[in-house]
Formats: sequence, C-alpha cells, structure tokens
Amino acid sequence: MTEKLIIFDTTLRDGEQSPGASMTRDEKLRIARQLERLRVDVIEAGFAASSNGDFEAVRCIADAIKDSTVCSLSRANDRDISRAAEALKGAANARIHTFIATSPLHMEKKLRMTPEEVLEQARLSVRFARNLVAGVEFSPEDGYRSDMDFLCRVLEAVITAGASTINVPDTVGYAVPELYGNFIKTLRERIPNSDKAIWSVHCHNDLGMAVANSLAGVKIGGARQVECTINGLGERAGNCSLEEVVMAVKTRKDYFGLEVGIDTHHIVAASRMVSQTTGFVVQPNKAVVGANAFAHASGIHQDGVLKARDTYEIMRAEDVGWSANKIVLGKLSGRNAFKQRLLELGAALDSETAINTAFTRFKELADRKSEIFDEDILALVSDESVTPEREHYGLVSLSQHSETGERPHASVVFTVGGQEVRGESDGNGPVDASLKAIEQHVRSGAEMVLYSVNAISGSTESQGEVTVRLQNSGRVVNGVGADPDIVVASAKAYLSALNKLQDKSDRVAAQG
Ligand code: KIV
Ligand code: ZN
Repeated sequence: MTEKLIIFDTTLRDGEQSPGASMTRDEKLRIARQLERLRVDVIEAGFAASSNGDFEAVRCIADAIKDSTVCSLSRANDRDISRAAEALKGAANARIHTFIATSPLHMEKKLRMTPEEVLEQARLSVRFARNLVAGVEFSPEDGYRSDMDFLCRVLEAVITAGASTINVPDTVGYAVPELYGNFIKTLRERIPNSDKAIWSVHCHNDLGMAVANSLAGVKIGGARQVECTINGLGERAGNCSLEEVVMAVKTRKDYFGLEVGIDTHHIVAASRMVSQTTGFVVQPNKAVVGANAFAHASGIHQDGVLKARDTYEIMRAEDVGWSANKIVLGKLSGRNAFKQRLLELGAALDSETAINTAFTRFKELADRKSEIFDEDILALVSDESVTPEREHYGLVSLSQHSETGERPHASVVFTVGGQEVRGESDGNGPVDASLKAIEQHVRSGAEMVLYSVNAISGSTESQGEVTVRLQNSGRVVNGVGADPDIVVASAKAYLSALNKLQDKSDRVAAQG
C-alpha cells in the first residue's frame, strides 16, 4: 500500500504570526472550514495560551471541525499546555504541539537555560501533555541549527515521554535541501526509538527554499508530515506553501511515491479566502494559485496548448479549482442561491442577520456590476460591515471631486462607535484626500506602511480590492476593502485597519 504524507496546515498559527495577518475568531473559523473541505489532516488553529482571542478561536474551531485533527501550539510549560487542552476539549481529534528551543544561540540568549534544563523541561512537558490528549507533537525550535548529539538526546527523551510526532523546524530558513534531508535522515537513524514517532518537516522561506527543503525532508529524510500554510503565508518570507508541496507530491508521484489526502479542487478558493482575509495579495506568477500560473500568454504556448495541452501544462487548472473562476450569480439570483453559493465556497455566515446584510450588499453590487464572480462573493463576506458588531468605525458615504489641474477634495461620512461624523480634506489624489478626511477625525497617528490596489476579477468592471497596512506603537495591522469604486474601497480598507488597531488585545509571541 502507498504510504501517506500527512498535511499539517499552520495558516491559522504560524501564518497568522506574519505582521498584519492577525485574524478574528470568525475569520479563523471560516478558514478552518475551508481547510476541512480541502481535507487537510491537521489544522493548527492557534496558540491558545497566547491571548483570550486565540483561546476562543481554537475552542470554536475544535468544536466545529470534525474531519481534521485540531491542534494548538503551546510553549513547553504546564500552564500553556493546560490552556491548550482546555481549548481543545470539544475536538473530535485533538493534538497539542509543544515546543522549546534547542539551538545553543536560542538556549543561551533567549531562554537563558542550560541544555540539561531544556531537555528536562521538554521531557516533562510532553509527559504532562500526553496525560491530557492522545496526540502530542514536539518541536525543538531552531532545531536545524541545534547540536546533533544534544538534539538526539532531547528527541529520544520526548518520544519516550509520549510524543507521537517529532517536528524538526528550520525556524530561520537557513537550510538547503540536501543538508536538511540528510539532517532528518541522521536523526532518524541515530535515535533508537525514532520508529515510534512520525517525523515532520517545518521550513521557513527566508532563502526561498521552504518547499524544496520540505520535499527533501520527505524524500531523503523519510518525513511523513509536512507543515505548511496556504499561499506560504508566514513571518518574514513565509512558510512552506501548502499548494506547492501538495501539487509537487501529486504531480511527481512517480518520484515521491506518496499519497496525499487533499481535495485539490478547493485550493484556489482557499488561497483567495486567505488572501482576502489577511490582505496578503498573491503574486501573479506564484506557482499553482497565482493569476498567471495557468495563463498561456505567449503565442507559442497558446498554439501548443490548443494542439495538445500537455505540451506546456503539467497540471490541470481545473484540478486546483481554477474552473471556479466563472460568473456564478447575477442580479436575479435569490437569497437561497446566494446562501448556497456561500456554503459551496466554504464561506457560510453564522447568523441570519449577517446573511441578510451580505445579501443586501450582493444585490447592491449586482446592480452596479453585471457579472458576479466567486471572488466578489468572498470579498463581500470578508467585508466587516457584514458583521457590524465588530465594527467601531464604519463607512456611511463618500463623495469626492477631482479634475485635471485641480486639487482633489473629499468628504467622508463614517461612524465612530455608532455616531456619525463627517471629515473633509484635500489631498494629492482622491484616495489621499479621502483617507486624510477620515484621519482628520480619528487622529490615530498610525503610519501607513503599505497601500495596494488589486483588480479582483481582471477587467475594469472588476471590484478593486485595496489593502492598507498601518503601523502604530509597534503593532502592524492590515485592512482590506473591496468596491467597484477604488476610492470607496480605499476608505473601507483604511477603516478596517483602524478597527483592527482599535482591538487592543495583546498576544504572547510564539517565538518570543
Ligand atoms: O518555526 C518554528 O520554529 C515554529 C515552531 C514554534 C514550531 O513555528
Ligand atoms: Zn514556524
């Protein structure tokens, strides 16, 4: 029988650690549902002890998800582990993923612990976790830069203590494929009880090799779990990308000889959902999920593809869900059809009020735009005004005037905690004027570190999707807004970012 490669998705934990990518509980739940549709084996839902918000997110996901194992990260201490176990109580299959750093640099400078203290804490934590849940995973943080002899001792001890998965992180993205693959192989050969655990790879992308390193860990090292994120989302240059690793193993089954349980037809929808929720835009030439990944732009390619598609295509666009990119609903579609499409897209809204608000927005959009695509619907449900209980700032109306040779002027009416206010300002352009009009009232003092506009579905009829990244007192947040009018989309994105800055809930950093 063909061996299985376990896909462990950490978009909601390691992906979320990317500055500005933090998600609300409901956003995380929506993505978790999409990951379950993708048939991801393990969903790392968060880091329960890091904040009350993350505890709630892990708890909700554990209660809702039945087909995938739900996992919480936890530092190697009893308090964190108890908190993770409590959040996971409702899970059909629960896993605690506990970690402690093992590299000389991290132990000395960050933990200020001796290697023997680290070994003992790792062992005791795994034993404690194993008494609370059946599935315990252990990660030696910065494992790849750890001393081999010491790492062997730690990993042997935690397997004896009950860890059933051993994950070897390349925390800082320093590895190269052959060396990383051999590193895992050596660990498995030298540790006497290594066959009692499943070996896992966790690679960061600082040198652009996260996918290659993970695949080498599988092929050379014999790892049977890959930790990855949708779109490769993650801190700095990100994590190993789920869609790339899955499609590599599927497309080159002749080489890897492994099965993956992922239903690849939901990949593109998952990619869009993560990008629209976090505001992290997918680059057009990104493998598998980039807008150009299957576009045969050059004449030679087009000719070849028309004659025989495998002249230039190694995967079928439909197999990863690109065929979903079609007109799905129109002006005459009813509420039931709309609700059904939300369900199919894995974007079901929980309350009837939210569905009604989203449906009204859909009708308004359909009046302005004849063709409604899946992307439009996903953008619509990502819009915070659909769940107004989360909204401190909300857009009411916007008017602006711009003319060649004149300085643009904008007037924006928006709500602040339910009260309507109006801001007016000039600016370099209509977007600048509109955002200045808002800032005039709010006085957030935040610095804008990114502003980007993206056409959701390609043509000038498309909705513009705007991402605004704000930084204030060390916090970075992303706001996303979509509208056929990009000035309105910009105002929505700005208000969305201000809403996130407003939410002051602090977190403990996983690798802090
Ligand atoms: O990169 C890393 O080391 C991690 C661990 C917490 C597993 O994300
Ligand atoms: Zn990581």
